Amino acid sequence: MASMCTRVCSRALSTSAARGSKVAVLGAAGGIGQPMSLLLKQAPLVSQLNLYDIVNAPGVGADLSHINTNAKVMAFQGAEQLDEALQGMDIVLIPAGVPRKPGMTRDDLFNTNASIVKNLAEACARNCPNAILGIIANPVNSTVPITAEVFKKHGVYNPNKLFGVTTLDVVRANTFVSELKGFDAETTNVPVVGGHAGKTIVPLISQSNPKAEFDQETLDKLTHRIQFGGDEVVKAKDGAGSATLSMALAGAKWAISILKALKGEKGIVECSYVESTITDAAFFSTPIQFNKDGMEKNLGMPKGLTKFEEDLINAALPELQASIKKGVEFANK
Ligand code: NAD
Ligand code: LMR
Repeated sequence: MASMCTRVCSRALSTSAARGSKVAVLGAAGGIGQPMSLLLKQAPLVSQLNLYDIVNAPGVGADLSHINTNAKVMAFQGAEQLDEALQGMDIVLIPAGVPRKPGMTRDDLFNTNASIVKNLAEACARNCPNAILGIIANPVNSTVPITAEVFKKHGVYNPNKLFGVTTLDVVRANTFVSELKGFDAETTNVPVVGGHAGKTIVPLISQSNPKAEFDQETLDKLTHRIQFGGDEVVKAKDGAGSATLSMALAGAKWAISILKALKGEKGIVECSYVESTITDAAFFSTPIQFNKDGMEKNLGMPKGLTKFEEDLINAALPELQASIKKGVEFANK
């Protein structure tokens, strides 16, 4: 109910803000949610930013609402305010869920996060079935198929609008390759395909722009570092969680690409985890071209992969398929 919501509204909308998109962040008070919401509050293409969490949403909302940008901020807390948080949204980002501690795999988060994502997906299917969804909560390899099944049950599934956000893998690949080669980190682009967990993450270094060549030993180490970059952060944080700041940047980058596409900009491409026929895995990340309806075209596997990369893709498929199956079975049980 509107009157029950803890609302924190910034100043009246300017004309330019009114032309922007409405974005909801579910899990907005968390380690990713807060800095990602800060970045989105600064995005000129956002007209409304709805922040939802089960704790601390009003405080985060009040804080962000004092920033003099045009996005209107509203905060919603608790299950009874979830439906209202989602109504009219164009984009919903879901970083709600627990992060890893050292020694855990992303799949170890399944028992907790699968239910969280399933419940939030139910609410999205009820309240904003046409929104574009970006799933951040791990294990992404399973939480995206869970969301697809929930939307199917509600009769509102559109595979062009459901994405797993794998941008952090691309961000890491760009960083590590540019560091080794002395490239400009901000313009280096290395596609990463597959899924988002360990060896399901497949960097396509042969497709780097600018071109980057490495001897096999360096390539092995670089590939491993990109595949297990998340573990590097989990270990360094020593029990205090996983990547939050780099993920906030990656999530906002992905969302801003969607915002541009919604606005009609052409040729916007981000690697994203989608329902796919590119390999034998039912969900697979490849470069995706966006338009105002979400996925315009799956650009598929880049041409000219090396044998090393083809082997990495084949090695990724069994784990990826098992994670997808686990998600589908969970959603339908
Ligand atoms: P965090 O614990 O700091 O924050 C999670 C937030 O979710 C908390 O504020 C919590 O209150 C909220 N939450 C829990 N249950 C909720 C519910 N039912 N509805 C709404 N909000 C709820 O964790 P974090 O570091 O922000 O990480 C969040 C998730 O993102 C984890 O699952 C993590 O593994 C994942 N992650 C994914 C990527 C990626 O590349 N896709 C990168 C980093 C982290
Ligand atoms: C990452 O890649 O940093 C995230 O998926 C978080 C994690 O658990 O490693």
